[in-house]
Amino acid sequence: MARSTSIEPPARRLTDGTVALRLRRASDLGAIAAASHDPETRRWLDDEPMDEEARRTSLARADEAWRNGRGAPLVIADAVTDEPVGIINLQFRSDDVATVAYNVFPENRGRGIAPMAVQLLAAWALSDLRVKRLILEASDGNTASIRVAEKCHFQYVGTRTETPEDGEQQHTTVVFALEGLNSALG
Ligand SMILES: CC(C)(COP(=O)(O)OP(=O)(O)OC[C@H]1O[C@@H](n2cnc3c(N)ncnc32)[C@H](O)[C@@H]1OP(=O)(O)O)[C@@H](O)C(=O)NCCC(=O)NCCS
Repeated sequence: MARSTSIEPPARRLTDGTVALRLRRASDLGAIAAASHDPETRRWLDDEPMDEEARRTSLARADEAWRNGRGAPLVIADAVTDEPVGIINLQFRSDDVATVAYNVFPENRGRGIAPMAVQLLAAWALSDLRVKRLILEASDGNTASIRVAEKCHFQYVGTRTETPEDGEQQHTTVVFALEGLNSALG
């Protein structure tokens, strides 16, 4: 699923003085790859852990996501040192509906980084990209991610339960949404 047009990277620096959202660089890949193997990341995110091939093609795949309108993959950086502390991505479902997904590197969790990053991303998406509806989904057991949705004032939409055919355990997802001002204008 994608937008019908490419996505322009932010024209201004997205920062609140504590964190900044910026494009992915080669120097970020070690930290991104390490975090992709973290057990909490593996538990809650569907992405495969990064192997050598995924690491080699990471920047090209990120560029392609912007170009083909599929997503806006960004790094969450420390606003002072510019060091990466996590990743955040906007994934488009249509021209004006997108979901937000994030991972804060293990050593940086519990400092309010994800809520700051989500709020910066949401403000940019709803204004500059004219997204009308931003969706945030978390597994029902992922208390930390549900807290992020609440702290960012997303509205609770409901739950969705999937029953895998292979006899695996049912999986329930909690869905939140943030509506853009322009959603009321049609
Ligand atoms: C979910 C996640 C992004 C939250 O990011 P964060 O920057 O730590 O967010 P916060 O600091 O606001 O903490 C959110 C909640 O995490 C929990 N938390 C607090 N300290 C924590 C720590 N050191 N480690 C893990 N979780 C912690 C608390 O429940 C906290 O809520 P509270 O502030 O009401 O107590 C992060 O835990 C993470 O990357 N988890 C693994 C990947 C993941 O689940 N991604 C989201 C998929 S939907």
